[in-house]
Amino acid sequence: MSVPTPEELKNLQESFRGKNQACFILGASGETGKELLAEVLRQQLFSKVTLIGRRKLDLEGPHYSNVRQEIVDFEKLDEFAAAFQGHDVGFCCLGTTKAKAGTAGFQRVGILIMFQHSVELAKAA
Ligand SMILES: NC(=O)c1ccc[n+]([C@@H]2O[C@H](COP(=O)([O-])OP(=O)(O)OC[C@H]3O[C@@H](n4cnc5c(N)ncnc54)[C@H](OP(=O)(O)O)[C@@H]3O)[C@@H](O)[C@H]2O)c1
Repeated sequence: MSVPTPEELKNLQESFRGKNQACFILGASGETGKELLAEVLRQQLFSKVTLIGRRKLDLEGPHYSNVRQEIVDFEKLDEFAAAFQGHDVGFCCLGTTKAKAGTAGFQRVGILIMFQHSVELAKAA
């Protein structure tokens, strides 16, 4: 696979924008998620961006006009299946570390389960 030229990349982006696709982002409050959200908005690739997380983020201004937030309980994702509906693309930036969660609360497996469950809900939508 060859790397697209800047002109080809521009055409690809314009063609993608024309599809009016919607995406959701899990973990937009984290370091990786913040960068992804900024890039998605900078490139204006999606007509609708949904942030699915456990807390509401302070996002004010016209820059975020096509962003909406769905606050969910990741322990009871089935009850929030509607949050995943109507999207073409999903990004997962969930993660945790021992330092953040504490050894007892280290939730790498939990995060993987949440991710797997989210994929199932998104596919069923
Ligand atoms: N940071 C990097 O440089 C980097 C580089 C390469 C790969 N990665 C990978 O990218 C992923 C994210 O890393 P990160 O550094 O962005 O992590 P982070 O800053 O700690 O962000 C983690 C995200 O996951 C959410 N989260 C954690 N535990 C949760 C739970 N129990 N229920 C619901 N949401 C939960 C957090 O939500 P809250 O804000 O509500 O806590 C936050 O949005 C990881 O898999 C990591 O290995 C990161």
